[in-house]
Amino acid sequence: MAAMGFAKSDAQQAASQATGAGLPEETIRGQRLVRLLEIPKAELHVHLEGSIEPETLREIDPSLSLAEIEAYTKYDDFAGFLRAYVWVNKRLETPEHYAVALRRLASTLAAQGVVYAEITLSAGVILWKGQDLEAIYGALWEESQRAPIEIRWILDAIRQFGAEAARPVVEFAARARERGVVAFGIGGDEVRGPAREFAEVFREAREAGLRLTCHAGETAGPESVREALAIGAERIGHGIAAIEDEALMVELRERAIPLEVCVTSNVRTGVVATAAAHPLRRLYEAGVPVLINTDDPALFGCTLMGEYELAATLGFSETELEELAEASLRHAFAEPSRRAGG
Ligand code: ADE
Ligand code: ZN
Repeated sequence: MAAMGFAKSDAQQAASQATGAGLPEETIRGQRLVRLLEIPKAELHVHLEGSIEPETLREIDPSLSLAEIEAYTKYDDFAGFLRAYVWVNKRLETPEHYAVALRRLASTLAAQGVVYAEITLSAGVILWKGQDLEAIYGALWEESQRAPIEIRWILDAIRQFGAEAARPVVEFAARARERGVVAFGIGGDEVRGPAREFAEVFREAREAGLRLTCHAGETAGPESVREALAIGAERIGHGIAAIEDEALMVELRERAIPLEVCVTSNVRTGVVATAAAHPLRRLYEAGVPVLINTDDPALFGCTLMGEYELAATLGFSETELEELAEASLRHAFAEPSRRAGG
């Protein structure tokens, strides 16, 4: 499956050329991982807004040129990536725009053997834009009923907007549990919005029956992962800084808290220098539960199968990759249905 994605800057291009770790992509693609493509699997860390390909953005806003999209979605570091992410979010003006994005994402996932996805919606951004979250989520819920895969939702608040702005996201998520919302999470800038400030809203979310996830240890160190655990996170988005802290890895292993690892994302935002230098394999060998995900596939120019292929270049055998695919369904926040579980 070709990853179209947004144009890469020179630095990003260099980084992604390094991702093959010496193996020509075609050697891996379609040959080693044929069985894996067919294994039912889950995508547990994917942002709807980060999955919108340039062609879909042009469908949403026909006044946009590809050159304009390319210019606004170029970035060299994490801060630049967040600006690109916000720019894409601002192009989404109606519930139908969100629904179109979901239609495209669901069909791309289905084509890769994904049977169940927990899709993150930046509900905090929708409220910040002053839009009608009920109308947008209603359209997404309806669209998800027609999707070829089973879809559940993680509603996400933005760390740097602060805990007060997160509260209405939790309240909405709690009300939408009957309509597919399974969890509450926080993303954005973990340095500007430390997890400890969200202790109260995480408690409220848990008491409302929501599961909890938290981006942490992506751009900040292991202490950020510890804070996420302290406020009750049950899965960690990224969490790769755990590699710097032996005791933390033991805790993640013993408590069976998985890291939602997104290798290409980490290379493209510059938090790791190359895919070959990514700690995924070392975390796995330390017994930390790891899951393979895309994060923002359009903005990072990646696909879920491509991420499994990349993991193969980092030393995972086909059997190990199949086990990771099976683990993705086990770590879902909801019980994948018969359709998903086989
Ligand atoms: N929102 C979308 N992608 C993100 C990422 N990689 N880190 C934090 N917040 C995000
Ligand atoms: Zn993410």
